[in-house]
Amino acid sequence: MSMSDHNDAPSGKTRPTSGTTAPRSTLSRRSILQMAGGAASLAAAAGVAAQPALPGGPPVASTMHVRMVVNGSARQLEVDPRQSLLDVLRETLDLTGTKKGCNQGACGACTVLLNGRRVTSCLTLAVMHDGAEITTIEGLAQGDELHPLQAAFIAHDGFQCGFCTPGQIMSGVACIAEGHATSPEQIQFWMSGNICRCGAYPGIVAAVADAAGRT
Ligand code: FES
Ligand code: FES
Repeated sequence: MSMSDHNDAPSGKTRPTSGTTAPRSTLSRRSILQMAGGAASLAAAAGVAAQPALPGGPPVASTMHVRMVVNGSARQLEVDPRQSLLDVLRETLDLTGTKKGCNQGACGACTVLLNGRRVTSCLTLAVMHDGAEITTIEGLAQGDELHPLQAAFIAHDGFQCGFCTPGQIMSGVACIAEGHATSPEQIQFWMSGNICRCGAYPGIVAAVADAAGRT
């Protein structure tokens, strides 16, 4: 009788040990080793890279290369794949005009134009937008000449503290371009994702309506 015969009972069950009443595992040492080998083979076949179990393993890439056109300028960026577009704009490109309010898609303070469409930049990862064209509040004016909506916000007192204003203006620019600014009610509806804690809504709606008539 071989050593394995002592360890492995017929039909894969271990023999009860005398004096022991507790149930024993129905898996033999051999079957556990066979399953472990099978799992390793599956991982290799699926192309799953082994993770370093100990410090000193092979280095893992921590950044990714992304190209963007931001406010008309081509930018080459190395970004952490976990970074939001908002954080890359503010912290990497120093474009702090775009504000971080809730950081969870509820306030609209972080609104920018992504390939001409408004997005809440806190809710999207920068690495998802390789090759994209981004416009922030800093990209609206032409030198000293304000965008018509920026001028309208001043003319209609469309702000108080100003924190929500960059997001309001970027959203308003898109609202007008979408054709969603033909009445105060329509503007209120299509700008409803942009919250103003100061309650400057009458001025905001008037400014968007004014600019819509001039753009
Ligand atoms: S900061 Fe992005 S929606 Fe509030
Ligand atoms: S102007 Fe203060 S939050 Fe809108």
